[in-house]
Amino acid sequence: MDTLIVEKIGLVNTAGTMPGRFLNDVLQGLRANNKYIDSKYFYDAKGDVLFQQIMECPEYYPTRCETEIITRQSAEIAKALLSQLPSFDVIELGAGDARKSIHLLQQLQKQQHAFTYFPIDISSNVINQLETGLPLQLASLPVKGLHGEYFNMLEKAKKLSSKPKVVLFLGGNIGNIPLEKVSTFCSSLRQHLMPGDLLFIGFDLKKDPRIVLDAYNDKAGYTSRFNLNLLRRINDELDGNFNLKHFTHYPTYDPGNGTCKSYLISNTKQDVQIAGTTIHLKAGETIHTEISQKYSMEQTDGLAAENGFRPLKHFFDSRRWFLDTIWQCV
Ligand code: TRP
Repeated sequence: MDTLIVEKIGLVNTAGTMPGRFLNDVLQGLRANNKYIDSKYFYDAKGDVLFQQIMECPEYYPTRCETEIITRQSAEIAKALLSQLPSFDVIELGAGDARKSIHLLQQLQKQQHAFTYFPIDISSNVINQLETGLPLQLASLPVKGLHGEYFNMLEKAKKLSSKPKVVLFLGGNIGNIPLEKVSTFCSSLRQHLMPGDLLFIGFDLKKDPRIVLDAYNDKAGYTSRFNLNLLRRINDELDGNFNLKHFTHYPTYDPGNGTCKSYLISNTKQDVQIAGTTIHLKAGETIHTEISQKYSMEQTDGLAAENGFRPLKHFFDSRRWFLDTIWQCV
């Protein structure tokens, strides 16, 4: 039935994923008792721009913390990686615009002769930009962009590279995986790698809860626009009729378990059409859109040990708000 609808509306989405899949996921999430939309759909061309604006906001600290770690300590990080593996290719999960990883890639070029960089991202927009833009900045770096979901693309990268792997998973992207699923994710990731392979992974650490909440509620309103942009994307790509004015961005942070969540709240009782299907929303009803888990050091070390990794070295920013750590596959 959904295929029919897709054929009828004849739309192609900008991420290049099957529109049928997008429609299915959206309808499944909005028909659930506790409504949700998968956060991977944030990142189309407009979403990418809004996220870049979030990263510039004074309240959104994670990017700045991790940039500090990578710019100031890239020589030590590269050295630590190379002391474990003399030769490897680099795979990045959720590469985004690679503006952080580029510092590390540069250092690796300085310290090692040749490697290929495989950025993986859910946004085809991002992958196209990387493939054209990166070689201009890092002249001799072979770049092979892979557009799709992490594990599918990891398998693809493994077919293209016979070297050991260093996998970058930056930005606290792992924080977008719910706490109850993160162990399964790490163990799947481990199963896609070989003993000796390395992971360089970022975690946003627990801190003053007011700092965390402000980061997801910037005063200029970019986070709100980013969250609402999901509804705009559904309107554009799935023939929806959300009125963005009838929804409000609502973030929460529970300092007890370290879970930060973003919701869209329906301001009134309303019906919305998506590709011919009606969705009912009560006044005050929530649509959950994103989770950003904050971790303690004990939790991250535990996560490594439970899932076949050994934490080798920790790198912090000067305020110790963020952790980038090297895990080795055992
Ligand atoms: N997922 C990223 C994070 O957790 C990006 C992000 C920032 C985000 N603010 C957001 C996602 C608000 C959804 C809603 O940091």
